[in-house]
Formats: sequence, C-alpha cells, structure tokens
Amino acid sequence: MCGIVGYVGFREAAGVLLEGLRRLEYRGYDSAGVAVKVNGRLEVVKKAGKLQVLAESLKERALPGTLGVGHTRWATHGAPNDPNAHPHSSEDGRLAVIHNGIIENYLPLKEGLLQRGHVFASETDSEVLAHLIEEKYQGNLYQAVRLALQEAHGAYGLVVAHQDSEEIVVARTVSPLVIGLGEGENFVASDVPALLPYTRRVIFLHDGDMAAIGKEGVRLTDLKGNPVQREVVEVDWSLEDSEKGGYPHYMLKEIYEQPWVLENTLGGRLREESATAELGLKLDPARYDKVHVIACGSAYYAGWVGKYLIEALARVPVEVEVASEYRYRDPVADQKTLAIVISQSGETIDSLEAIREAARKGAGTLGIINAKGSSITREVDDTLYIHAGPEIGVASTKAYTAMIAAMSLVAVWMGRAKGRLQDQPAAEFTAELRKLPRLVEEALEERPEIARIALKYHQASDYLFLGRHIQAPTAYEGALKLKEISYIHAEAYPAGEMKHGPIALIDEHLPVVVLTTESPLYEKTVSNIQEVRARGGRVIALATKGDSEAKKFAQDVIYVPRTHPLLAPIVSAVPLQLLAYETAVCLGRDVDQPRNLAKSVTVE
Ligand code: F6R
Repeated sequence: MCGIVGYVGFREAAGVLLEGLRRLEYRGYDSAGVAVKVNGRLEVVKKAGKLQVLAESLKERALPGTLGVGHTRWATHGAPNDPNAHPHSSEDGRLAVIHNGIIENYLPLKEGLLQRGHVFASETDSEVLAHLIEEKYQGNLYQAVRLALQEAHGAYGLVVAHQDSEEIVVARTVSPLVIGLGEGENFVASDVPALLPYTRRVIFLHDGDMAAIGKEGVRLTDLKGNPVQREVVEVDWSLEDSEKGGYPHYMLKEIYEQPWVLENTLGGRLREESATAELGLKLDPARYDKVHVIACGSAYYAGWVGKYLIEALARVPVEVEVASEYRYRDPVADQKTLAIVISQSGETIDSLEAIREAARKGAGTLGIINAKGSSITREVDDTLYIHAGPEIGVASTKAYTAMIAAMSLVAVWMGRAKGRLQDQPAAEFTAELRKLPRLVEEALEERPEIARIALKYHQASDYLFLGRHIQAPTAYEGALKLKEISYIHAEAYPAGEMKHGPIALIDEHLPVVVLTTESPLYEKTVSNIQEVRARGGRVIALATKGDSEAKKFAQDVIYVPRTHPLLAPIVSAVPLQLLAYETAVCLGRDVDQPRNLAKSVTVE
C-alpha cells in the first residue's frame, strides 16, 4: 500500500516524482508529498487529498533540485491530513523520511524520543523513524538508517534523504521496494509502473536489504552492512500497458484487455495433442493428496472457483481459505499438501504469511501470481505467472479471470498427472479453454444492455447476488465488485441458501442478480428465482445465449456465450464487472480509486 518514488540524477526531481506517483496513485490516495534537495536544503511540500492537490501547490512553488523522494499515502496510523502526510522531517529539517508499512514498536520508541526532548509533528508511526535516524546521524546517512533499523521493528519500505547526502538510502522488510537503474540517474519505487517511463532494468529488494542510491551507482547490503548481490531483472511491461490507452478509466481498459490476457495465461501452456497443460513447474502434482488454496478478496473467489475445478478434474480434495484466517489457525498441512497461494500483486501480507505457514508445515507451495519478482514469488517452490500485465484499477478484473484460467490449467495438470482425467473429457475441456479469449470478447458485446440495466437500478440501496455450485463464487465476486466501486451494499449467497435467511430481505426494491448459466443445477436455480419473484423481488438473470426461458422468469436478462459449465465463471465475471462499472459511472463514483481502498495490501 502507499506509493513511493525516489530519484537521484540529472532531471528535475519534482517532475519525476509527480509522474511516478501518478502511476502509483492506485496504491493509496488520501494524501501525498515530496521532499526535494534545493540548494543544499530539503524542501518539503505535502498535502491531504489526491495527488492533484499536491500537483497544484507545486505549480506555485518551484523545486529545481535533482534529488528527491515522494509518497502517496493510504492511512494506517493517523487521519489523512497535512501533518500526517509523508515525507516526515527530523526536527532540524535536515532529513526526510518516507515509510510504507507499520513500525510495531513505535509507541515505546516514541516515548523514549519524547523523554529525550523530541517534539512530534504528526500522529504517525513513521515519524519515529525520522527522529531516530536524526539521533543516529553523525555525517553518514547510510549508517544512521542502519542503526535506527536495529531498534525499529515491523514492516517497512523506507526511503530517506538528507540535505548533506548525495545518495538516497532505502531499506526493505515486508513492504516492497524496487530500484530502477538508469544512466547517470537511478530510481526507487514501491512498484514497477513508476519506473517505466525511464527504465526497465530493475532490482527487486529482498527482505532485510538496504541500498544507498546515488546518480552513478547503487550499493546493496544487508542490515548488518554486508554486501549483497541481487539479480538485475529486465521487466517486459511496456509504458502503454500501464496507461489508459484512450479509455476513461483503467478499470474499463482492463475489462477490455481480458481476451488477450486469457490468451497470455493459457497460450503456450495447453497441449492439444495430448490434451494436457504443460506448466514448466518443478513440483510433481502426483505427490499431493490434498490442496489448500490461500488468498484474499477477489483472488480468494478465484481460488474458490479453483476448488470446483480441481475437485472435478483431478478428484483431489481442496480447502479454500482467506489468508488472514489460515495463517492463525494452525492448519492441518503436511508433505502431501499442495498449498496454492493466489495473488495479483504478490505482495499481500496475509497471503505471504499464510503461505509461509503452509511451507513451515512441509507443504509444497505454488504461487499463482501476476507481478513478476514480487515477494510471494520468492517464497514459494514454484510460480505460475498469470501474465495479465499491470492491473492499475483498484478493483481487480483481468487478474481475476486470468487467475481462474490459471487454476483451470492446474486442475488439468493435476488430473492428468494423477491419471484421473481421461483423454476424452480432457480433450473437451482443453478445447473449451482454448476458446475462452473469443468467448470473453463475445461477452463484452453485451455492454450496451448492461449499461441500460445499470441505469435502471443504480438508485437501489442494496443488491443480492445468487449462484450455485461453481457459480456461487461468481456471485460473491459480482457483489464485491459492485460494493467496492459503487458503494451500493451488496450481498451474495449460494442460491440454495437464500431460503435459510436472506429471503427476508426480498421486496420490490431489491434487485437480485441470479447466475442461471447452463449447468446440471439449472432447474434448481430457476426454482430459487421463482421464490424471489413470488416475493416481489426484481430479477436480473445471467443466462446462456439461446436460453429462451430466461426472459419468462426474469425482468432483465444478460446473455453470456455458451462454454463448458466449469468455465462459466470466466465468461460470467465479465458482465458482472461491467455492471459494477456502469453503475459506479451512473453514480459519479471514482471508479479507479474508490474510497478507503488501496491496490496492494501490505499491512495486516
Ligand atoms: C477486489 C480486489 C481485492 C484483491 C485482494 C487481494 O477487487 O482487488 O479484493 O483481490 O486485496 O489482492 P492480491 O491479489 O494482490 O493478493
């Protein structure tokens, strides 16, 4: 969470920082600030509100230096106001600190600093670092940061500038930092998109790494000061990938990218001749007799779909759990367990800790991840990248469907290796997988009808989403998308559960989205719809093209292309993303940066 950018070089730092922060604003957007070294002094400007507020005030105050640090914040400790915005300065104003994460022992540290006469300007945990580093400073910024970090515990992506130093000093534990390498200039950021206008050569810092970044070079050490070597990675994301490309919002662009993303996820991995999936993994799927899937939010719903896929195709029992629960409940995992962690960012702290827990118990670990080089990819035995490109919209869309596609591949891979998925069904399923990019393109064509439905119901105060079997997680994902970006309260239930309680909510004001795509449970879902209609509820059915019955039992119908019933969640997710999007647009919401959220959640 939070965006960080640091720059040392020959360009005007303020411009580089603002441009980088703009590309990271999805990581946090309740306040923003920069510190730039101008004529040997650090000038700090920071403002509550979106980055634009900071940009406006920088128009009135030129900062012509070539070394600087910048931040966009997602508040943890202290309200989003000017004093709590980063950077935080030492009392003498000679150093400025930017920090992502949480300093867990900040209260005792602060108490000690207060007793020693320090005066604090904010309510944040981060400010203790500025005071602590100031205390340790004796002419060498790197040493001062290193000594301070021997006392501060917790999570940090830390970036420090000092008016007497030609280098920026950075350190990482838990919260990600990536260094960008240039010619006569170097960069640091919390995520790759900030670096793309300048360089694609990057170094992902590992936990416990520190670095001194100057314009001509970068020195890497551990927290004890021992030199460390890290690989220089060439990232393959283009600048265009991280821009809106003519769409009004990143979210819409990313929804429309799904056909090629699915091509990327699946392409090259499906072997039609042998009706199998070649994943290039070291793990041997035949070794495991149960699977644990661990994830958060949308990734969790993708994992829940994955449970149905793996159980159906590989006949291996699967447990799916939100990572924040898994990590604390002493799960029953062992060498025969394959633990799969699913994460777009690869940085979600709960998911990272949960997979560590599974590994401690001896489980084999597989990451289904989008962001290359991210923390989780370094912890797991193997990674299956989903290749969705940068996802900037805070609400996950293309990563979600790509995760399900990746789980489909895993199901085939396990099913074939265990001899439980026979040639004929394997051939049918992989042939359907191959068609997905085209089918998703077809699903996108329903947008005008979805926009009409969104307009019709956008003033509803609540929504209910229902689905059965493999479409139950789709219902939950549809509800999550809607509430995240439109702020309309939405609940989801497995359709058969409705009569056990939520049916009491149904009246003529409640739109109920029901997933009635072709499946062996179609008739049962239709019965659930009749129960809604009998109580005056307004039904929006998501039905398979060619289903002429749907219009008889639903006021509104959104059609999706026919596919294998196990792949219906992918084609069905698309209209639900569009429904949420169009509803949020009708309500004038900030689609890409909904309130209170941040893209990668690196705090517990
Ligand atoms: C919802 C959404 C979140 C994420 C969750 C996990 O639209 O984006 O629920 O799915 O925070 O994030 P990752 O996949 O980065 O671990």
